[in-house]
Amino acid sequence: STIDTSGLVDADGGLVDRAIFTDHQIYQQELRRVFAPSWLFLAHTDQFRRPGDFFGTYMGEDPVIVTMDRNRKIRAYLNSCRHRGARVCRADAGTTRNFTCTYHGWSYGLDGGLVSVPNKAGYPDGFDTADWGLVEVPLIDSHRGLIFGTWNPQAPSLSEALGTMAWYMDAMLDHDGSGTEVVGGVHKWVLDGNWKLAAEQFATDWYHVNMSHASALMLLSPEGKGPRDEIVHRSGRQYADPNGHGAGFPVHPRNRFDAQPVHQWFDYDAARARLGDARVEGPLTNGHATVFPNFSYLPVNGSVRVWHPKGPDRMEVWAWTLVDRSMPDDVKEAQRLYNLRTFGPSGVFEQDDGENWSEVQAISRGFVTNSVPLNYQMGLGSEREDGRYPGLTSELYSDSAGRAFYRRWQRLMNTPAWYEGDV
Ligand code: FES
Repeated sequence: STIDTSGLVDADGGLVDRAIFTDHQIYQQELRRVFAPSWLFLAHTDQFRRPGDFFGTYMGEDPVIVTMDRNRKIRAYLNSCRHRGARVCRADAGTTRNFTCTYHGWSYGLDGGLVSVPNKAGYPDGFDTADWGLVEVPLIDSHRGLIFGTWNPQAPSLSEALGTMAWYMDAMLDHDGSGTEVVGGVHKWVLDGNWKLAAEQFATDWYHVNMSHASALMLLSPEGKGPRDEIVHRSGRQYADPNGHGAGFPVHPRNRFDAQPVHQWFDYDAARARLGDARVEGPLTNGHATVFPNFSYLPVNGSVRVWHPKGPDRMEVWAWTLVDRSMPDDVKEAQRLYNLRTFGPSGVFEQDDGENWSEVQAISRGFVTNSVPLNYQMGLGSEREDGRYPGLTSELYSDSAGRAFYRRWQRLMNTPAWYEGDV
């Protein structure tokens, strides 16, 4: 059965009912109508250097293996054996020639084909291994090292789906043309909280920074003045994308607010020539962003992360640290440590955020609590073309990207997905 969510989200009026964070049926519908049809982040191209390199992840709650085949093509498969459904790959990452199921031993090649079946003679004549390959993710594409996939064979191209958001993303991914690479592996941790609480915050919420992160900002302030001089008086822009993506960033001509070796090494003049002043003064430095539905990043940290849904009230955070390939090793290392200390699993900022999401989630099951709408009205109607930043932007302190996020979510929730035909 399908739930009409139009009474639960009023994106134009800036109202959201908490049932969308708690209801099990809504969650199941999200897996079918939001996750299955959307382009989802899978991995970074740097994780695949030679054929057979693989990385296990999730698309929604579906486990998938991403791998490089013998022709060096990146492909992804449902990580579930066609025999009785066990995982065919139980490692997080590695290099292999075949994916062999540990239950009865069916084995699949890097092209997903079933290559070996113990006691094959016991199957009837009509049994053809060609019919029993792994289920493949039909569309895979990448944008500047970020690999995305979708189950929807009719999805618009990745570049169409990213649209103007790619301009903002490139402020992190294309500093000098050298590209990015991963340092320090993939960090994974579990949080009590609906995945949307994190995704919407990264899309839209600079508002929480002054309050939630006050002590962390005091620590990081170069002159020990605390958040006031660093953040509170910042102005900036927030971008709201029609496909539900969002990015918010302070705009500052000095390009920095916290001391990091990366800022001493970085050639800001060259970056201005390459990316333009607007991008260098805004989305390249401090800010936050979400690519709908569940991929987010922090450009100054090089932190990219996925909010994997694990039921309506739990998420698993998977986070990578990206650095420019051109960085000297000591700058890469400094960047890795900086990101870990701020937005790693025990990072000072990450702790603040996780606490907020879990707190919101913990009380939202109450019957009355669950029926009181939440406010997303800041900056309502203030979105405009400002001539400097592409697309519709508003002031930094605004819920505009949050409204765009939930507008997109609402549209997908109420639209039959490709496999539903014209129902
Ligand atoms: Fe994989 Fe049986 S479940 S071989």
